[in-house]
Amino acid sequence: MAAKKRKNPYIPGIAAMNFEPDYDWSKEESETLFEDKKQSEFSSDTIYYEDCLSGMISLPNDYIDLIIADPPFGIDFSSVKSLYNRNSEFVPNGYEEVSSTNYLEFTIKWIQELPRIMKNTASAYIFSGWSHLKEILEAIHQSELTLINHIIWKYQFGVFTKRKFVTSHYHVLFCVKNSNFYFFNKIEHYPEDVWIIPRKYYPGQPKNNTKLPEELVSRCIHFSSKPGDLVFDPFMGNGTTAVCAKANYRHYLGFEINPNLKEIIEKNLNETELGRDYVPYKKLLPSIEDLAEKYPAVSKHLRKKTKNI
Ligand SMILES: C[S@@+](CC[C@H](N)C(=O)[O-])C[C@H]1O[C@@H](n2cnc3c(N)ncnc32)[C@H](O)[C@@H]1O
Repeated sequence: MAAKKRKNPYIPGIAAMNFEPDYDWSKEESETLFEDKKQSEFSSDTIYYEDCLSGMISLPNDYIDLIIADPPFGIDFSSVKSLYNRNSEFVPNGYEEVSSTNYLEFTIKWIQELPRIMKNTASAYIFSGWSHLKEILEAIHQSELTLINHIIWKYQFGVFTKRKFVTSHYHVLFCVKNSNFYFFNKIEHYPEDVWIIPRKYYPGQPKNNTKLPEELVSRCIHFSSKPGDLVFDPFMGNGTTAVCAKANYRHYLGFEINPNLKEIIEKNLNETELGRDYVPYKKLLPSIEDLAEKYPAVSKHLRKKTKNI
């Protein structure tokens, strides 16, 4: 049987050319939204140096707009060190890990608390390596969260292997509280679930050895929150989520169990100017010339346009 003809044939590139983000704000509008939405019940733009398991209990219901959570790996630091090829001299004391045997119990505890503190429109991005992915997926399954996408973050890693493939990806589980009401700003025409973002290295700088790239954290913020929203991170580490929130006119709130990281987090935040990275989403779209390089239909359109000038 012959395939049915589409009424409006899909022309690659034409849809991309006409694409506009669902929501967009100028820098001034974003700053106003940020100033207007200073949270009152619980101080926002604050990091508490305590265990998130007990800390989260005191957060109000339906409070958070977006969660970014990069939990401890559940492997001891000596293996982290060799796995990640880092010098422990620059890792602050008190690096907090969770033992492999308690990992499922720990993961179920913190993940099951998330839906309560999330607004109905909120999302959570949960990061996981593959070694404990099983426990993270099980905890999501047991919670009231709905898993929407299983995103792969692909990076260059640089750890040479002899008898196995080089690990060069991470898992990012995009979950929501209510699959009918969650906020999602489609800021790209064709956002795929594989994100290619290089890891950055900061040789010689003190840091928790697990800093996520700001581009990666900001991508979650752009797609799943509005300026002025409250972004929560139960495992702040170096404060990457707080830095990216501040740099994009979002408020932040979080926990970090290791008080030795306070100095690093405060330094990172003090060096970040409010709204530093925010660019209206329309300005980030590919130019018509970029699209023309990729799609024949757009280059035809461009030729026609220049002919008519
Ligand atoms: C994988 S790191 C987070 C790195 C962070 N995403 C960044 O970019 O810097 C996990 C962090 O969770 C902290 N942590 C471990 N258990 C915790 C707990 N129960 N409550 C709060 N923080 C905890 C560790 O001290 C560590 O800094």
